[in-house]
Amino acid sequence: MPNHADAPQGAPVLVLNGPNLGLLGLRELAVYGRGTLADIEELCRRTAAEHGLRADCRQSNHEGVLIDAVHEARTAHRGIVINPAGYSHTSVALRDALAAVELPVVEVHLSNIHRREAFRHHSCVSGVVGTVICGAGAHGYAMALTHLAQLLEENR
Ligand code: DQA
Repeated sequence: MPNHADAPQGAPVLVLNGPNLGLLGLRELAVYGRGTLADIEELCRRTAAEHGLRADCRQSNHEGVLIDAVHEARTAHRGIVINPAGYSHTSVALRDALAAVELPVVEVHLSNIHRREAFRHHSCVSGVVGTVICGAGAHGYAMALTHLAQLLEENR
């Protein structure tokens, strides 16, 4: 997928985390582990830097704020790593926002959503993104950034 013409070479990649992910480390430890969102964001910044990229890390519990961030990314970022969390399974609006973005997008889930409750098996978002990574825990974010870096290198 082409890099958006308006985003300069030095622009960051957006790492967007959805609702309740701010509670990582406190929430459902058996599913998500003890790592915090701050740990994940640090991993993202470190991995991005290893590939000569910058990660702009954000989290929101609000659907509209996530959609606004995706709109902003159209011109301000070079790619998106997104864990839409619960909105993965419900948000047509977030899917539409991502469909309108001409950037490489990687959807990440910490857990393997296909091994969990049936309502988590379908992601509204997966059909409009290039890549989906799930079940690799926090390492999935590092994989996502490494993959984005590869795509951005190929599209230079
Ligand atoms: C999640 C999986 C979703 O089903 C859930 O609502 C989350 C986190 C994950 O990272 O495994 O909040 O996206």
